[in-house]
Amino acid sequence: MVGQRGLRNMVLAAPWALLMLGMTVLEVQGALQAPAAGHWRRSSRACPRLEKPQAEDVGFLVINLDRSPQRLARMRQSFKEHNLPPFERVRGVEASPDGGPYDVPRLVRGLKWADYGTSLAHLRAWKAAARSNYPWNIIIEDDATLLPNASYLELPPIPVDCDLILFRPSTIFEREDICEETPVQDAYWGYGMVAYLVSREGAQRMIQKASRGFGGPIDGHIWYHNHVCTMRQDYISHYECTAPCKDSIRTWLNGELADMPAPD
Ligand SMILES: *[C@@H]1O[C@H](CO)[C@@H](O)[C@H](O)[C@H]1NC(C)=O
Repeated sequence: MVGQRGLRNMVLAAPWALLMLGMTVLEVQGALQAPAAGHWRRSSRACPRLEKPQAEDVGFLVINLDRSPQRLARMRQSFKEHNLPPFERVRGVEASPDGGPYDVPRLVRGLKWADYGTSLAHLRAWKAAARSNYPWNIIIEDDATLLPNASYLELPPIPVDCDLILFRPSTIFEREDICEETPVQDAYWGYGMVAYLVSREGAQRMIQKASRGFGGPIDGHIWYHNHVCTMRQDYISHYECTAPCKDSIRTWLNGELADMPAPD
């Protein structure tokens, strides 16, 4: 039994299935012209309350699987090169049918196990952010590439009503200015969650809204459960990949790279 909610989530996960099938971004964008109900919309055009994170208020959380010590080492090296303070590691989750128990349920059978694991890992990161000594945290997947022109410790004023602020607008299909006082934008649709900023309160809201479980990959989940914002410029880059993505451990764990070794 899938149930009404499960059914809805399956429909919502469909765009990601299409991406996996190798549709181009433009094709997917075309197919998704009409955003589904559930997208958060700002009710007033007035500028929301803004807060500018100070350098000492920003912590870093890097999501990393036990199987990937080399990615962790690369990230540490990259932090040094960018003169960033040390990060806290968030242990990635490799979910499986005989693993668990897991924090929140897998709501639909169509949700692949590695996608569910990725969602659980982000949930772990949100929990770390919610109880962090830092009021703000930047959550990064271990295969992201930091950009030399991005200042992670000199952030612009952030609307406090954003649950998360994505760091890679080039993968956001639909976004909109909020007000002149901030370059941060509202975001309505896109893919990827390779890096983003959260406040303690934003992390708390995301935990609460994920408490019933995950019905799709995490980068689909957020659009229907959270108020998503984005920086106006890319703070991060990520390898480009065709479907199936040969550099993605998630894809490999999902069994989509049959006969290939695990990506480095
Ligand atoms: C950094 O430069 C890249 C181009 O190399 C650009 O796409 C990106 O938006 C820039 N990011 C910032 C924060 O200025």
